[in-house]
Amino acid sequence: MEKKNLMYEGKAKKVYETEDPQLLIVSYKDDATAFNGLKKGSISGKGVINNKMSNLLMQMLEKSGVPTHFVEELSDRETVVKRVKILPLEVIVRNISAGSFAKRYGVEEGIVFAEPTIEFSYKNDGLGDPLLNSYHAAALGLCTWEEMETVKKYAFAINDCLKAFWKSCGVTLVDFKIEFGKLSDGTIVLADEISPDTCRLWDSKTGEKLDKDRFRRDLGGTEEAYVEVMRRLCEHI
Ligand code: TMP
Repeated sequence: MEKKNLMYEGKAKKVYETEDPQLLIVSYKDDATAFNGLKKGSISGKGVINNKMSNLLMQMLEKSGVPTHFVEELSDRETVVKRVKILPLEVIVRNISAGSFAKRYGVEEGIVFAEPTIEFSYKNDGLGDPLLNSYHAAALGLCTWEEMETVKKYAFAINDCLKAFWKSCGVTLVDFKIEFGKLSDGTIVLADEISPDTCRLWDSKTGEKLDKDRFRRDLGGTEEAYVEVMRRLCEHI
């Protein structure tokens, strides 16, 4: 499988067309941004880790019954995925207060919720990815009610699966952002990536942050944190 036209370049990935109209190649970059692109930088080796981690986690999720876009890992940074139409929704599941939740509601980080929460943002950089609910998504025609139900069902199933897995690695899954896409036949599948860029992962014993918050908050040791979570994942998968 070979890369043809560059179809899209995002903040952390490039997406290429291939000779097969149903398949794309994703190429992971080391570039990192935060705060809607305001902060720019690079996390050395991140692309390789995110590619491998996302692929391993998606294969685990497939086994647990969640369909994904994953097809085949091509190289350190490149993966073949199914072509999807991305639903313009960022789906965020939270188990513990942190980040924008803590800020918005004026609570400290680290409150363990009795039940996981879910929220949606409209994927639109120009607008700064504003929060929306199911009614807004339906009004804007972003997805149907049925698709929204499927997305919610998968999001909580993904949380159950990932939370248990990361626990076995001595890592607490605080929250994460996922995106879904639609195949040409309308099937909803998990797309984009699952990595320390898109999850909050805290060391279960020390509470140390092992994710992109180290970059967002200038905590230092970002590369080392990505290497450490990847090492734990590989030991336990
Ligand atoms: P938040 O607390 O800043 O809203 O982030 C919630 C989760 O979503 C966190 O795990 C980081 C992830 N996230 C992304 O993947 N992309 C983004 O652009 C943002 C803002 C958060």
